[in-house]
Amino acid sequence: MENYHLQVLRGLDPGRGIPGRELSLKLGLSASAVAKSVGWLRTRKYRIEGGCAGGYFLKEAASSLYPWEVSAGLKTAGFGKKIHYFSELDSTNSLAFELALAGASEGEAVVAETQNRGRGRLDRVWISPPGVNIYASLILRPRVPMEQVAGISLLAGLALARACSRLWPVSPGLKWPNDVFLGDKKAAGILSEARTEGGEVRFVVCGIGINVNLDPGVLPGEVRARATSVAEFLGRPVSRLRLWRAFLEDFEEVYRGFLRRGLSPFMAEWDRRSILKGRRVKVSGAQEWEGEVAGLDPSGALRLNDREGKPRVVLAGDVQMLTVNKEEKCC
Ligand code: BTN
Repeated sequence: MENYHLQVLRGLDPGRGIPGRELSLKLGLSASAVAKSVGWLRTRKYRIEGGCAGGYFLKEAASSLYPWEVSAGLKTAGFGKKIHYFSELDSTNSLAFELALAGASEGEAVVAETQNRGRGRLDRVWISPPGVNIYASLILRPRVPMEQVAGISLLAGLALARACSRLWPVSPGLKWPNDVFLGDKKAAGILSEARTEGGEVRFVVCGIGINVNLDPGVLPGEVRARATSVAEFLGRPVSRLRLWRAFLEDFEEVYRGFLRRGLSPFMAEWDRRSILKGRRVKVSGAQEWEGEVAGLDPSGALRLNDREGKPRVVLAGDVQMLTVNKEEKCC
């Protein structure tokens, strides 16, 4: 956004109309520059009523995830300070990966209002309807051994759970390794992709898809039955901007902690929020296991007792729940 559009936006008063002349004087801009900016803002879904003489009245701010809106009040040192914003993309992860290859810095984010080839784990499609959810990817350059990279997805889920709990009376559950649940349905998923060179981590792209104001009714049947959104869970629409900011703040905090002290300080909270503990599950991946989940180990691996009661440690895999807990962990 050009600087003077932002100046005009900040100069408008949502409480009253401001004559164009007053705004020009206040901002040191010509009347035609102010009028041009108002036009520019209107095309970006800011509802500004009135005209130059009678006064411009900002009736409603745009609800898009515009970087200048995100940055207003964002309390991070680096995460989301630079945002590459698109109304449509194939996949935010794909673009973030390219940007990272080209040298983008840690904390840079890619955000899209919709994705036409959103990707989930295990080559699944991530359905990405426009304007209602958050589709975002963060570029990270952690100096950690390769085997610690999987922990970053665990931390992103934890950060989202914290962010939601900070904003609303909810306590999201976590499903190992990468899902965030509200009640017994999935509200968000994480897809982290790493680039390594010579056994070293060069960068990680951490992508997150959050169902915020989605009406799950628009999803195809099989997905619909297992998905929810924050709005559906709370029974009212919520601000995507506030959630995106809160997530960036909480993710930065846990990520910095992880760089200093590793994953283990976060595992007790992860375990508390886990919806799998005590459940019978089937894990598929390099190896298949069926058993009861005991918890997480300090490295973030899933501990379970197999059908013979033998303890197993699962480093990666897809978990299917076979029973429902009597007492829900979440919300
Ligand atoms: C999953 O649960 O399978 C992971 C879903 C990850 C979806 C997000 S949306 C933003 C980013 N871009 C993508 O193409 N995927 C991730």
